Amino acid sequence: MKSIMLLVVTAIIFVSMVASVPWPNTTYTLSVNSPTSFCMFMPPHKGDSVGGTISKGVPQCTSSKLSNSHRVFPKGFIVSAHYAINNTEHFEQITGKIDPSKYGLSTSDQGGQYDYQQISGVLCNYDHFFVALLEPAHNRFCIRCCKYSRDCVTDESSKGCPAVIPGAY
Ligand SMILES: *[C@@H]1O[C@H](CO)[C@@H](O)[C@H](O)[C@H]1NC(C)=O
Ligand SMILES: *[C@@H]1O[C@H](CO)[C@@H](O)[C@H](O)[C@H]1NC(C)=O
Repeated sequence: MKSIMLLVVTAIIFVSMVASVPWPNTTYTLSVNSPTSFCMFMPPHKGDSVGGTISKGVPQCTSSKLSNSHRVFPKGFIVSAHYAINNTEHFEQITGKIDPSKYGLSTSDQGGQYDYQQISGVLCNYDHFFVALLEPAHNRFCIRCCKYSRDCVTDESSKGCPAVIPGAY
């Protein structure tokens, strides 16, 4: 009897791990799947300063189904998007260009960085680590979901997207 109980408990733990059931402290879930299916952290309101609202970022996506925020990018905001996956380190990323005016962002806004230390409880492709920079003054954005914290570096935000998340821009 005891061993059956143990088996059941083990099975439940295994299933919940495989299904990546969000922890009760999950704030946002978001996906980074392809150049046409992804999310990015954005200021909560149109026209907000990015740097002034980094702890209040909300995911916006190419489709309302990709995040529990159900928010979609304003039309024309994403100008280009390049997807990359690293199968050995298990991270996925999107790097690309934006048109800041489509969300009322200032073209003199140097931007800021959203990351797992600023916004806790985020599941980025079911991973607990993420880093994302939005840089209106450079018409640039980047986001990476990481299985390991070492691939989502949080202390180099001043160097901008190309240093934190190398890729095509
Ligand atoms: C994956 O990332 C690691 C660490 O940054 C890097 O050394 C490796 O070359 C990458 N692999 C691919 C296939 O990009
Ligand atoms: C959420 O809570 C779980 C269980 O306590 C913990 O392991 C996990 O690190 C927490 N996640 C975040 C992002 O705080």
